[in-house]
Amino acid sequence: MTKTKLIAGNWKMNGNLASNEALLRALLQGMGTPACAVTVCVPAPYLIQVQSLVAGSVLMLGAQDVSAHPQGAYTGEQSAEMLKDVGVRYVIVGHSERRQYHGETDDVVAAKTAAALAQGITPIVCVGETLAQHEAGQTDEVIKRQLAAVIQVNGHCIQEIAVAYEPVWAIGTGKTAMPAQAQAVHALLRAQLRHTAGQNADKVRILYGGSVNASNAAELLAQADIDGGLIGGASLKALDFLKIIAAAH
Ligand code: PGA
Repeated sequence: MTKTKLIAGNWKMNGNLASNEALLRALLQGMGTPACAVTVCVPAPYLIQVQSLVAGSVLMLGAQDVSAHPQGAYTGEQSAEMLKDVGVRYVIVGHSERRQYHGETDDVVAAKTAAALAQGITPIVCVGETLAQHEAGQTDEVIKRQLAAVIQVNGHCIQEIAVAYEPVWAIGTGKTAMPAQAQAVHALLRAQLRHTAGQNADKVRILYGGSVNASNAAELLAQADIDGGLIGGASLKALDFLKIIAAAH
């Protein structure tokens, strides 16, 4: 089944009003009509700014995290309803940096996924093994466990999510998984989704992330089960991000 690929930029904790505007203007100018869907997941203080800059364009607004709770006394959190209110279409959920530095468990990730889905925002659910797990041969077991928690809570509408496989050892390190190695993990994730969603599993975009750049994107995106990319560092450079977008068809 052919589906449009998704290229998602993850700005992480980078940018300011001036650099965001310069980056977005360069992207909008260079992008034309891409063959793929494109979103930029920006820091919360800049959601409104970015929304006004991308309004009416093909570039969609994304966020980097969402609260598992609908509203109330949760200082510092943003609800899915608020994100929707300001025009967010995609939200990254369970990024390894949140799992690692902010104690997000599989259950929290599953609840955040549900919160996003309830507001019609597409969660980009991140899974991936650490270097130690990779070296111990535990990759399959770890990613299966991470996805199973999300399926358990969201099984009835699992075809509405996107998944991002990001080996932790490949994030920001310049080391990418070999395309065939990534494809093998993506195929496992697809099979797991199929178990619950049947043929609808083919509708789920499974993105690859971890040191994707302008020169390795095409080969990764050519793999059968790689339906897009979650791009960190390279999404902050207009020319590199544009090349990755152009490679996604
Ligand atoms: P990277 O980050 O492209 O800089 O490796 C990817 C991510 O963490 O989403």
